[in-house]
Amino acid sequence: MHKLNCIGVLTSGGDAPGMNAALRAVTRTAIFNNLQVKAIYRGYRGLITGEIVPFQTESVSNIIQRGGTILKTARCPEFQTPEGRRQAYDNLVREGINALIVIGGNGTFTGAHIFSQEYEIPIVGIPGTIDNDLYGTDSTIGYDTALNTITDAVDKIRDTASSLERLFLVEVMGRDAGYLALYGAIASGAESAIIPEIVTEEDQLEGLIQNGFRKTKNSSIVLVSESEKTGGAFGIAARLKEKGFTPHVTKLGHIQRGGSPSAIDRILASRIGVAAVDALLDEQRNIMVGIVKDEIVHVPFNRAIKDKKPVEKYMFDVLRLLSI
Ligand code: F6P
Repeated sequence: MHKLNCIGVLTSGGDAPGMNAALRAVTRTAIFNNLQVKAIYRGYRGLITGEIVPFQTESVSNIIQRGGTILKTARCPEFQTPEGRRQAYDNLVREGINALIVIGGNGTFTGAHIFSQEYEIPIVGIPGTIDNDLYGTDSTIGYDTALNTITDAVDKIRDTASSLERLFLVEVMGRDAGYLALYGAIASGAESAIIPEIVTEEDQLEGLIQNGFRKTKNSSIVLVSESEKTGGAFGIAARLKEKGFTPHVTKLGHIQRGGSPSAIDRILASRIGVAAVDALLDEQRNIMVGIVKDEIVHVPFNRAIKDKKPVEKYMFDVLRLLSI
């Protein structure tokens, strides 16, 4: 292995609030350790097309509070081909980059895992996604901010729900993970959540109807995960209409990914960013850096992407209990 002297850093996949804070931490920790930093724009696409720029400490000034990613991001099908990855590796060699830090989610780490098996390049991943669906870290960067955005939005919807005594279905993101729906429902005092992890075991909608949406209340708000397994809020609404209900649907969409990162996400990103460079200096490779029970952990990519992160079932009981 070449002596570590230049780290390449990129953000890939869906943007998440706090990615900039992670980039800032990586850049400054690397420079503090006398390493060069090269920023790769537009994720793996920029690695293939060679959009690579040297970064200094001031390149990351005034970004800790900014949402999105100043590096831009992309979903890149070319990186899924051997030719694309060959081109990417050639560019790394040409630029003198001898280690990579990738900030992203499941798709990003899947690409990193394949790349690291084909080429001699140490890669460390930083979990950046609002979905919180990566095994091996209690929280991903961006999740807390998205939860706050959802809570804020549901608070507003509740004004109409209670004034007009309506039933609202609020669809939230998360792909096939129910974290945003379940924890968003608890935080906003919603009546229920319909999430993919539980929908496979029981029909949550039937349960809700049997218990009566309106036992003691005149309005109800249900958070629904966007996943195909739940049918999404529109799918649930269609079923409810057949049963004589008049649900209103709000799909929160990309509002959930935007905005200034919360203090918790900035701190998480700063801490993991520092730990990611430390991991490379310790000759770690092909791992994601996470935090479990307030301790930094290293999780091999294949576990982070393949192992299922379980949703805490007892939190579903908490939601049920508190919405009587
Ligand atoms: O992974 C983050 C995420 O926001 C998911 O929750 C969602 O399913 C997906 O990205 C949407 O992706 P895009 O912005 O490419 O439509």
